[in-house]
Amino acid sequence: TTGMITLDPGYKNTGSCESAITYLDGEKGILRYRGYNIEELADKADFLEVAYLLIFGELPNKQQLKQFHEDIKQESHVDEEMKKILDAFPKSAHPMGVLSSLTSALIAFNPSSVNVTSEKDMYHAIIRIMAKFPVLVAWTMRKQKGLPLDYGDDSLGYVENLHKMMFKRPSKEYVKNKVVIEALDKLLILHADHEQNCSTSTVRITGSSHAGLFVSLSAGISALWGPLHGGANQAVLEMLEAIAADGGDTQKYMNKAKDKNDPFRLMGFGHRVYKNFDPRAKIIKRAADEVLGDLGIEDPILSIAKGLEKVALEDPYFVDRKLYPNVDFYSGIIYRALGIPTEMFTVMFAMGRLPGWIAQWREMRLRGEPIGRPRQVYIGENQRPFVPLNKR
Ligand code: SDX
Repeated sequence: TTGMITLDPGYKNTGSCESAITYLDGEKGILRYRGYNIEELADKADFLEVAYLLIFGELPNKQQLKQFHEDIKQESHVDEEMKKILDAFPKSAHPMGVLSSLTSALIAFNPSSVNVTSEKDMYHAIIRIMAKFPVLVAWTMRKQKGLPLDYGDDSLGYVENLHKMMFKRPSKEYVKNKVVIEALDKLLILHADHEQNCSTSTVRITGSSHAGLFVSLSAGISALWGPLHGGANQAVLEMLEAIAADGGDTQKYMNKAKDKNDPFRLMGFGHRVYKNFDPRAKIIKRAADEVLGDLGIEDPILSIAKGLEKVALEDPYFVDRKLYPNVDFYSGIIYRALGIPTEMFTVMFAMGRLPGWIAQWREMRLRGEPIGRPRQVYIGENQRPFVPLNKR
């Protein structure tokens, strides 16, 4: 009914998957969601439109988008008892661990979203998580800041409501800042999907056992947390702050990144697929300049980032290995300008990636794919006889 993929019972999992959602060309630095270039979507669409596009395959018309948002608003309540689970965490708990746990815990309050067998069940599970996830994201930040939890306002747009739930101060009016909302919306679009990356593959393989959508997303959140993956945006800021504290000595960190005896890597550089500029990094770099300019923020960290990028792009070690800035290199600078704490950066990545994870899980289920079962090349011992303990 909405560009759905027909069931393909004969599909055999060959270890890699076929997908119609996102196209990447790592050599040319191309990224498209359902055939639309990321540059156009970031510039002309909003996050909810892009979420609909990724999940259902087509850009929504006005009525479809309105209905999608209305359906989401109907499900935006998170059970009060979920607060007891949130309260059980120490304030010092990393928000990614809290978010992964809360996303999994949602199942207890939405049991009908576990075994989806029809497209109707699937749609309801998708609407529920699209509605409740922003609340959980906001709750993780407010928990960390010791702020009372906010339930949002259905009269606001999807991203505006997320921002309000995250930032509304008790006893103060929520004041919308257009620059901030547009920057957040663009960042979420740029993170929305990225083909079969580590966390998306985790969502697909977890979902392939017919574990529910929410627990598959919880697994994806855990995979995203790693500093080699989505956790890199937090690691980039920590690296840039360390360089700033070191008097801006970028060469020292470049040398560390090139030293094979030093585990340090230049965070925000390199990619498993892109051997050219990550197209998202180019857009985010421009947006960082725009947002900081519009907000009148002079952030020395941005200058250090640009200096580091310049040095790296001219350094033979990076040039020979085709190491370019990726999506995580500049995103943290914008999150910081929006007042988002560093530990929340990867949570924001998860918020952006939510529709992509949902779309990939839905595609896998609608294609009737068998349970994921990667094979291996065995490199262990050949068969050998047992040795009794007293002879070892
Ligand atoms: C994301 O897959 C996706 O699509 C992910 C993502 C998404 O949207 O889902 O795009 C999001 O995860 C982006 C990546 C964020 N991670 C970081 O920024 C962490 C820093 N980058 C790296 O650790 C690394 O580049 C990876 C993990 C991203 C890729 O690792 P690989 O596959 O090992 O990199 P490679 O094979 O291209 O490495 C080639 C060489 C190696 O050196 P040699 O053995 O040839 O001497 O480059 C070196 C690597 O050691 N290298 C780096 C480096 N990245 C690779 N050296 C220093 N600093 C780096 N950042």
